[in-house]
Amino acid sequence: MTQKFISRSAQDTKDFAEKIASNLKGKEVVLLYGDLGSGKTTFTQGLAKALGITKKIISPTFIIMRTYELPEQIGDAKYFYHVDLYRTQSEHDIEGLGLKELLGKNENIVVIEWPEKISTPIENSIKLYFKYLGEEERQIVLEQ
Ligand SMILES: Nc1ncnc2c1ncn2[C@@H]1O[C@H](COP(=O)(O)OP(=O)(O)OP(=O)(O)O)[C@@H](O)[C@H]1O
Ligand SMILES: [Mg+2]
Repeated sequence: MTQKFISRSAQDTKDFAEKIASNLKGKEVVLLYGDLGSGKTTFTQGLAKALGITKKIISPTFIIMRTYELPEQIGDAKYFYHVDLYRTQSEHDIEGLGLKELLGKNENIVVIEWPEKISTPIENSIKLYFKYLGEEERQIVLEQ
C-alpha cells in the first residue's frame, strides 16, 4: 500500500507520525528515506512522543543509535531504537552496532534514518520517503 501525505509544518509531520504510531505493536522496523533536513528526525520525535517517550529525541548523529525504554509496553514492544546511519562508512560499521540482532524481535520498535546504507533488504519494514518541497512543506510517501 502506498499513501502520499503533504505536510505543511513540523507539527504536521509529528501529527502524521502519531497516526503511524497508533498502528505499532512491536517488531516493526520503520525506514526513513530522504535528504538532509527533509524531516526524518522531526517525524521520529512525533513517533517517540506518541509512544510515551518523554526524553527529548535528538539527532543521534554522532552516537548513531539510541535506545529508549517505553514507559508502558505497547503490544509486545518494550524498547524503541532510533538509528541514524548517515555517518557510517561501511557495512562493517553497521554490523558493529548489533542492529541486525534487534530487527524482527517482538520487543523492539526500530526507526532507521539513512537506511540505504544497509545493502541487505530488511523484511517487513514500513518505508517512508521524505521530500523537501518548500521551507515548511514536505511530501511524505508511506509504503508498507
Ligand atoms: N513540514 C515539515 N516537516 C518536517 N520538518 C519541517 C517541516 N517544515 C519545516 N521543518 C523543519 O525542517 C527541519 C527538518 O530537520 P530534521 O532534522 O527533521 O531532518 P532530517 O531529515 O532528520 O535530516 P538529517 O538527514 O540531517 O538527519 C527541522 O528544522 C524542522 O523544524
Ligand atoms: Mg535526522
